[in-house]
Amino acid sequence: MKFKTLGAAVLMSIAMGLASTAALAVDGGKVIVAHRGASGYLPEHTLEAKALGYAMGVDYLEQDLAMTKDDRLVVVHDHFLDRITDVADKFPDRARKDGRYYVMDFTLDEIKSLNFTEGFNIVDGKRVQGYPDRFPMFTSTFKIHTFEEEIEFIQGMNKTMGRDVGLYVETKAPWLHKQAGKDISKATLEVLKKYGYTTKDSNVLFQTFDYPDLKYVKNELMPKLGMDLKTVVLVTSNPEETYELVDGKWQRFDYRYLLDPKNMAEIAQYADGMGPDYHMLIDEKNSRKGDIKVNDLVQKMHEAGMVVHPYTIRKDQLPPYANNIDELFEAVLYQAGADGVFTDFPDLGVAYVKAHK
Ligand code: G3P
Ligand code: CA
Repeated sequence: MKFKTLGAAVLMSIAMGLASTAALAVDGGKVIVAHRGASGYLPEHTLEAKALGYAMGVDYLEQDLAMTKDDRLVVVHDHFLDRITDVADKFPDRARKDGRYYVMDFTLDEIKSLNFTEGFNIVDGKRVQGYPDRFPMFTSTFKIHTFEEEIEFIQGMNKTMGRDVGLYVETKAPWLHKQAGKDISKATLEVLKKYGYTTKDSNVLFQTFDYPDLKYVKNELMPKLGMDLKTVVLVTSNPEETYELVDGKWQRFDYRYLLDPKNMAEIAQYADGMGPDYHMLIDEKNSRKGDIKVNDLVQKMHEAGMVVHPYTIRKDQLPPYANNIDELFEAVLYQAGADGVFTDFPDLGVAYVKAHK
């Protein structure tokens, strides 16, 4: 998308932004995405966390996807099982040399036999809960489910609750799946198609950190499958997040490309929106408690006609310049001007947006 003048670009972006936002947000304002469900209150990505996020009034429920050994899509954030299950107890011999238990090394039946828990890290050989004030580790019973099961769950709730909550689907590490001969994006699109999500009017956003794979999705997969969904490209400062094949060699994808304003018009050919880490929108050097300063990154993304949904706001992981979660919602949504936000605490996001209106 190319604009002849900055004025035209701004007008176009305002028109597109309003149209997109109106279409995206349940109450016509800012979009609240339940990050891994209401993961501040229940173990991430469990159906229970999705039901709670739904009841809190969100616009979208997020799904992160990885592929099993037998090519099924499961809803988990990591492409590893060791942070969120008892896999190391049940299958002690199945770790790779790096000590990790890969989703793609286990069948769906094996994965369903695991107990799903609030996330933890191994510290001095012991399991230490990542967020200590959240749902207690390994209590009650939770299980990993498939992408199909989650879609049926959300569509079922949409029927009984009379609402239209959307899917916000992320393919995790398509490049890693490709290295293992698996096409996670194709599998994801096929499931979405089976459940009726095929056009930009469908209530789904297809997101990925893998910009090279997004180009493949837009140029090849979607046309081949007769689909054209809304897409979002995610941006991170983690240099290990994505690898791309260049001249037959896998090398790191350089995210600086996605942050350079001169590339925004090209990015907009593939993405309807961008999902930066919210820290990227803040002038962190000059921000103080009670005085948060933002930069013009959202504006640059808007000028290219894209919506902006940064991630992830958490009340138990506040940056040094925020006194509380409300100040962060204010800075990201209203000062920086993002169109929506991912949060582990969807009730607080929905309440903040409603109060602001
Ligand atoms: O997809 C938006 C946000 O979820 C990205 O962060 O690592 O939680 O998937 P992550
Ligand atoms: Ca995600």
